[in-house]
Formats: sequence, structure tokens, C-alpha cells
Amino acid sequence: MKITVCETKEQIGILCADIAENVIKSNPHARLGFATGESPLEYYGELVRRSKSGQIDFSGIDTVNLDEYYGLEPSHDQSYRYFMNKNLFDGINVKKENTFVPMGNKDSETACAEYDKILAEKRISLQVLGSGRNGHIGFNEPSDALTEKTHIENLTKSTIDANKRFFDSIDDVPTKAITMGIGPIMQAEKLILIMNTVDKADAAKALIFGGKITPQCPITFVLGHPDTEVFITKELADAIGYKD
Ligand code: GLP
Repeated sequence: MKITVCETKEQIGILCADIAENVIKSNPHARLGFATGESPLEYYGELVRRSKSGQIDFSGIDTVNLDEYYGLEPSHDQSYRYFMNKNLFDGINVKKENTFVPMGNKDSETACAEYDKILAEKRISLQVLGSGRNGHIGFNEPSDALTEKTHIENLTKSTIDANKRFFDSIDDVPTKAITMGIGPIMQAEKLILIMNTVDKADAAKALIFGGKITPQCPITFVLGHPDTEVFITKELADAIGYKD
């Protein structure tokens, strides 16, 4: 696992976009895995800039997303489909029909089976990850064992609290989500993990100093992946006492 400390979130965005650019240039039909949340926003901003300037051509790629709130329509302004359209897909020249986000508005069995079928069609070339405060990946919450396939998760109090900032009241925050399982994430050719805020200190410590893979902190699973790059801000590195 390679760890890179950057002064700013923008620098992280540029380095991640460099990696994505190399992946797409070496395989114009690559599958890119995306995540929601604030952590990858600078990365997405940089991809939009490079699409608009013609530096990256996204027309041949397809994309998969980690997760979606269960019970929200894709058109809901807090759905992850809406987030991805707004922050990335509407700004790059990807074909919208080639962008896949789990469906939060379908019968759960159908939605999970359909998403697993899409995931089985092609290996993810590059998956970006953020981390929950509690170390969750996508919406794979801490538990005794992680699930391989797409499934419905009951969100923990920590996650609901973290996400309430986006809703009018805590009662509006969905309590369930549909998430990619750990299987396709671990099978991705390359992972990039962005941790750029100090509220991730506990998860970052478990990952960087804990030295053990545990489903109680799902992000530690990336320790078992052969090609993971972790990008953290100097502020977070200082907060956890990490020096490179
Ligand atoms: C949500 C998403 C995760 C994301 C996390 C962190 O819970 N399901 O995929 O990593 O938020 O979000 P942020 O980057 O805003 O801290």
C-alpha cells in the first residue's frame, strides 16, 4: 500500500486524475468505479476539466458506483445518482447509458441481482474509495463479516449522523442503503483511497498503524489488495502522527 501525503485536497484530485488518465489512455474501454461523498469531489472536478479540454476522452468507458440510498428515487436531490450526474457525469463526455449506480427504488432482490449482473460483466479497472468515519467502504458497515455481493445494509447511527447534514432533518435520512459488496472492490485492478478530512482520523489510524484486516473497520480490507494508493491530506497526517 502506497501512502501519499498532500498539502491540499486539490493536489490529491490532480494526482488521482493523473492515474485515471493513464488507465483510460491504456484502455479506452476501461471500467471506472466511483464513490460519492465529499472526499472525491476535487478528483471529479479535475476529471471534468480534463474532459472539457479534450485531455481525457471518456466516450468509450463505462462506470459503476459503490452504492445508493435505499428508498430514494434516482431523481431525488440527495440520491447518489443525482450526485454523480451533477458532480461528474454531466461534465464529462461519458455516455450516460454506460454509467451504472445501484437502484434504490426497486424491489431489493431484483436491484441487487441486476447490479451483480452488471458487475460480473467486467472487472473494475480503477476504483476510487472514500471512508466513512467508522471505516465503512461504500455502505459496507463495520460488522463481524463483510458481504461479497451487492446487498442492502442497515446504516449505523454514526453513518446516519454523518449524513444528516445533507437532509432537512435526521428523520429524512434514509436508514438503509444498497451497496456493492466487498468482492468486486477487492477484484478491481487498482484502488485509490482518498482520506482528506480529520473526521477520518480513527479509520486512518486503523488502516495505517493497525496492521490488521478486520471487518470491524472495513477500510482495512484494502491492506489485502495488491495495488492500493492512499492519498491523505497533511492535516490528517498531522492529526494521526503519520510522517512519510
Ligand atoms: C458515504 C458513502 C461512502 C463515502 C462516505 C464518506 O457514507 N456511502 O462511499 O466514502 O460517505 O463521505 P465523505 O467523503 O463525504 O466524508
